[in-house]
Amino acid sequence: MATIKEIAQRARVSIGTVSNVLNELPTVREAARQRVLEAIQELGYQPSLLGRALRKDKTNMIVMIVPDITNPFFPGAVRGAEDIAFERGFRLVLCNSDNDSEKEAIYLHEMRTYRPSGLIIVPADLSKDTEAAQQYLNAGCGVVYMDRIPPKWRGDTVTSAHEQGAYAATKHLIDLGHKRIATITGPLSGTSARARLQGFEHAMREASLPVPATFIKEAEFNKAAGHKRAVELLRLRQPPTAVFAGNDLIAFGVLAAMREAGLRCPEDLSIVGFDNLDDSDATVPRLTTVDQFAYKLGATAAQVVVDRARGENGPAKHISFTPELRVKESSAPLARTKSSVAIAASRSRRKAGKKST
Ligand code: RIB
Repeated sequence: MATIKEIAQRARVSIGTVSNVLNELPTVREAARQRVLEAIQELGYQPSLLGRALRKDKTNMIVMIVPDITNPFFPGAVRGAEDIAFERGFRLVLCNSDNDSEKEAIYLHEMRTYRPSGLIIVPADLSKDTEAAQQYLNAGCGVVYMDRIPPKWRGDTVTSAHEQGAYAATKHLIDLGHKRIATITGPLSGTSARARLQGFEHAMREASLPVPATFIKEAEFNKAAGHKRAVELLRLRQPPTAVFAGNDLIAFGVLAAMREAGLRCPEDLSIVGFDNLDDSDATVPRLTTVDQFAYKLGATAAQVVVDRARGENGPAKHISFTPELRVKESSAPLARTKSSVAIAASRSRRKAGKKST
């Protein structure tokens, strides 16, 4: 493999000039820079990334930590971040924390040794400490908290207006005539789930609709937890006629519980989710949900980190996107949705049917 000395000889410049070109310093005359780049091309020189990292104390790595890579929302955001990072000469490394603060802390500690230029983090629900991220910032890294923002964090953030999205989802159900509306939230230790509950309660309060304590169920952001909570709601003496689910995976669990109970959506129960996952168009009926533009969130977070890594200073940026309601077929006017009595009646008919067999 060619050496830096051979590059210099071929390009008829000093070794220092070759080094300045490799370190992208603006001090090199354009003609000399071009000769160096041509010589690198002709001789197939491969600069040592490790060598450059040691000189700059930085690699072109961007670390992205997400809480659950099996939840399709996060790959959407990761794809947006990776597209931007790659286009701008950076390489994204993905870490999955399993929504576990300790595993997240291990990643934050160990990945710093690779001298990344940037960090994008969606924190685990229970992660409140931002000291480790602050150390990346102090080391000259670009750092963005995305989607879930710990209260102590004062740096760059990119998120969607969770409360606004949940308010729109609930208002949609109210406008359809529903009064008995329940919600199954994500983990309320996390800021996104908590903000969505606030949006739900805001819409219900504004419409002067009571929310019985039994109508607020907390779950994990997954289908099994949504299913479990939905079974509890359907067994109530006075079940809801509509459910706002904290994310689409929870909504998929509600649909499954309804199928098992012999209930139909939206005739017996209307449902609205959150995330507008691709699968929300594959369910029967298609899921009414809230789009928070996962790809755009990730791409924007990466752009902020890249700009910081390239030396952009200035006050912290707080970028928030307005989510949009996507009305499909899982929500219908109350008139088309049976009353809770009808649900109870269909349940008792099924029980009677089971006794006669
Ligand atoms: O689906 C997982 C949820 O957690 C998403 O809605 C995202 O906002 C994250 O907070």
